[in-house]
Amino acid sequence: MLQRLVLLVFLLQCVFGEETCSGIVPMKMRAETISIVDFGGVGDGRTLNTKAFEEAIYRIEHLNRPGGTLLYVPAGVWLTGAFNLTSYMTLFLAKDAVIRATQDAESWPLIDPLPSYGRGREKPGGRYMSLIHGDGLNDVIITGDNGTIDGQGDVWWNMWRQRTLPFTRPHLLELMHTTEIIISNVVFQDSPFWNIHPVYCSNVVINNVTILAPRDSPNTDGIDPDSSSNVCIEDNYISTGDDLVSVKSGWDEYGIAYGRPSSGITIRRLTGSSPFAGVAVGSETSGGIEDVIVEHVNLSNTGFGIHIKTNEGRGGYIRNITVTDVNMNVVRIGIKIAGNVGDHPDQKFDPNAVPVVDGLTVKDVWGDNVQLPGLIQGLKNSPFTRICLSNIKFEVVRVQQVPWKCADVTGSASEVEPSPCTELATPYGPNLCANAI
Ligand SMILES: *[C@@H]1O[C@H](CO)[C@@H](O)[C@H](O)[C@H]1NC(C)=O
Ligand SMILES: *[C@@H]1O[C@H](CO)[C@@H](O)[C@H](O)[C@H]1NC(C)=O
Ligand SMILES: *[C@@H]1O[C@H](CO)[C@@H](O)[C@H](O)[C@H]1NC(C)=O
Ligand SMILES: *[C@@H]1O[C@H](CO)[C@@H](O)[C@H](O)[C@H]1NC(C)=O
Ligand SMILES: *[C@@H]1O[C@H](CO)[C@@H](O)[C@H](O)[C@H]1NC(C)=O
Repeated sequence: MLQRLVLLVFLLQCVFGEETCSGIVPMKMRAETISIVDFGGVGDGRTLNTKAFEEAIYRIEHLNRPGGTLLYVPAGVWLTGAFNLTSYMTLFLAKDAVIRATQDAESWPLIDPLPSYGRGREKPGGRYMSLIHGDGLNDVIITGDNGTIDGQGDVWWNMWRQRTLPFTRPHLLELMHTTEIIISNVVFQDSPFWNIHPVYCSNVVINNVTILAPRDSPNTDGIDPDSSSNVCIEDNYISTGDDLVSVKSGWDEYGIAYGRPSSGITIRRLTGSSPFAGVAVGSETSGGIEDVIVEHVNLSNTGFGIHIKTNEGRGGYIRNITVTDVNMNVVRIGIKIAGNVGDHPDQKFDPNAVPVVDGLTVKDVWGDNVQLPGLIQGLKNSPFTRICLSNIKFEVVRVQQVPWKCADVTGSASEVEPSPCTELATPYGPNLCANAI
């Protein structure tokens, strides 16, 4: 039934011309359904259900039913510590089901740092496991009827504010080395750190989710595809305290050595609000990032509409990025492309490992109430090339003498208002702007 409905929606979208990539991972009906209640789960908001989740998932893993198993989480508040998923499973959150993280930070499990980061993102050494975690899996679906995964992040945000964090904060959901993932029709809220983190994954669909966190919550990125390929991020609403979507691929010498790029990323029909970036690439880009499409994005009350960020010591590359059809309303900087964000894992980075930034097209952008249209700061020993802007109009709050600030960059601009910097004076055309469709 669900499968047919999804197929129907997919076909309707095709017929009515709404482009979609969510077909890259087919939705699957599972042969068997079990409920968290069958494993002693109690949805009263007080009973700790970590054991119930572990036992249910242990059973899915070890019975390994052909066609996979759906773990049903009914309406109720299901308090739990961190747990691991397994392959060939669907975690289904019914309407009014809330999987809520315990705030007992002291007993939270620790795991190894990611090899492409060399250490925890915030603190040296290991890091707290994500609330919902998976490593080395195949075919994982997290969906439902708008149920909620609630990180109760404020204890972690307060530790960050008071500088008492012993290790890097947990994500709400992290899947590592996993292929065939669907995350849809659920709400993520109040993550301790980043919300959804697929890392070393391929074939990932994240659609029709809502991600919420207070505007002042630190580092609550929405979706961070990291060293992952074939990722489809469509029809999501995200409003958090940090970047809504940020494409990454490892950090300085660790990311360079690991060498796993992010590629084939589509971000489409995204709506939301952030004090930082609407859509970002970076700043961790050491494994390389290429072939990214961003389109139909509506942002309000946002720091930077589009933010490409990297640094010396990062190495890697950012290339073939196409951004089109973006509406911005009340933003600080419309388009920011920066090679000087700082932020190194340690002092062992190689300052000569400069990133290559080449082939970036931003087209059909409209912005109202914009403070600064653009800031493009390349690197002296690695100028950014083929940066192409076309059909962009920003209504600025106060007209500045220098609306675009640029350095160490070449490229082209056509029909851009206010008038862009002279660095972008090469005539616009298919040879220069290869990815300008
Ligand atoms: C979950 O998986 C990680 C490996 O990704 C492992 O280190 C950890 O011990 C597992 N935790 C539990 C509670 O099974
Ligand atoms: C999106 O999710 C909501 C529940 O969260 C559901 O009612 C709706 O049908 C979903 N839309 C699509 C296109 O799947
Ligand atoms: C799902 O829940 C979110 C958060 O409460 C809400 O904003 C959204 O409208 C809901 N979606 C549907 C389809 O009910
Ligand atoms: C963005 O806003 C425009 C204009 O209001 C609207 O036509 C479009 O459907 C919106 N896009 C999304 C993804 O909500
Ligand atoms: C640029 O990326 C798009 C989207 O992934 C891809 O279709 C296209 O082939 C890429 N272009 C080049 C020159 O690699």
